[in-house]
Amino acid sequence: MAQATMTFPADFLWGTATSAHQVEGQNTNSDWWAWEQQQGRIMEGHQSGLACDWWANAEADLDLMVEMGTNAHRLSLSWDRIEPEPSVFDNAALDRYRQILQGMVDRGIEPMVTLHHFSNPLWLVEKGDFNSGVVTDYFQRYTNKVVSALGDLVAKWITINEPMVYVFLRYLDNKFPSPSENGYLGARTAVRNLLRCHAVAYHTIKESYPRAPVSVAKSMQIFEAPPGGSTLDRWWAGQISRIFNHSWMQSMVTGKLQPLFGGGRIPQLADSFDFIGINYYTRHYVTFPPRNGFLTYDWGPEAQVSDGNYGEVYPYGLYRIIRQVLRYKKPIYVTENGLPDREDRLRPAFIMDHLRQIWHAISFCYPVMGYYHWTLVDNFEWERGWTQRFGLVALDPQTQERVWRPSAHLYREICRSFSISSEMAERYAPAMVDVMFPGTAPKAKPPDL
Ligand code: FCB
Repeated sequence: MAQATMTFPADFLWGTATSAHQVEGQNTNSDWWAWEQQQGRIMEGHQSGLACDWWANAEADLDLMVEMGTNAHRLSLSWDRIEPEPSVFDNAALDRYRQILQGMVDRGIEPMVTLHHFSNPLWLVEKGDFNSGVVTDYFQRYTNKVVSALGDLVAKWITINEPMVYVFLRYLDNKFPSPSENGYLGARTAVRNLLRCHAVAYHTIKESYPRAPVSVAKSMQIFEAPPGGSTLDRWWAGQISRIFNHSWMQSMVTGKLQPLFGGGRIPQLADSFDFIGINYYTRHYVTFPPRNGFLTYDWGPEAQVSDGNYGEVYPYGLYRIIRQVLRYKKPIYVTENGLPDREDRLRPAFIMDHLRQIWHAISFCYPVMGYYHWTLVDNFEWERGWTQRFGLVALDPQTQERVWRPSAHLYREICRSFSISSEMAERYAPAMVDVMFPGTAPKAKPPDL
């Protein structure tokens, strides 16, 4: 059989991604913790509990990263731990983060740090958080504190994780902890304040570390009309894609707020990002008028759908998104990509095929510089609790036992060799050989002579 290999650049970043509330455990000062205590908020009444026990023992998973051959990791900080009361900063918490970050650096794992990933200190919620103008000053001060305590250990920064998803799930869908003001007006104010927070954090970091790359992790998905959809469906899909994928990005480019966000300008916002962080998961079919909120779940019979109807596996979408963001002319990192798949039935092929799309993009000299798989170890999946398992490594949250899924072994081979070979495909997902490396599969029978 002919062998074929896709090779990645020698400086490519191979990472995994996590967020504080999902892995640390015992984040008792956060709005998510309080939300989890309320009946009916989280599937099956699950709670984050000890999560992956990172607060006590992140080091176990840092060792896992090394074993897996990765050279980068994206993590987030709990604002609620760092500033448990307004204006009271907890040095012990900052020291613990220093230890974790130093642990990464010592192990050859480059840290990318997110300042805000879906959770808030309870005191901030009482002050109205993103519905109140006070949030910007608080966020600036928090960022300042973090930058002076930890900045020397951080390679790259993300200010806000998935702002549009956050606003949607919190203000319009009510799946995330309740804000002070719901609905469209609340959402609009929140977007404006999130943009302001991003802008002040960007400049606060830059003052101390002018060369540190800073951005947001932007959820970017494919929205399109279902096959055979109408002109109206296509028009609507275009609107959703523009609003969800690009309106925030446009504001960061120009400093202008879209009419949907109430218009106007935030002067410090213009050109306030140094790279593009893409969180890509799936394709959504949308129809007009909208059904099921905004999205339909009409996957075709051929579609491979991940656990709990989370989404269709659509690797080519990543390539399409990369092409969409070329317009912003900045380096690109895939800051999240993964799927819930407890039995690992789809994940090996998923990883190879998404990485193939990146390899394809790189072969056109598109500047994709790194990939952070969501996630290293199963963790607490917000309103879906522990029902969805995104980890390369399986976790039993009771015993904290970790078991490598086949995908973890595959990812290790890829990260260590900076490549994907037809031989790996053969071993981990034979059906992918023909898709990824056409012409290399052994023939079923020798040709007739
Ligand atoms: C993203 C979130 C992340 C995780 C994955 C599955 O939207 O940023 O925390 O929940 O989805």
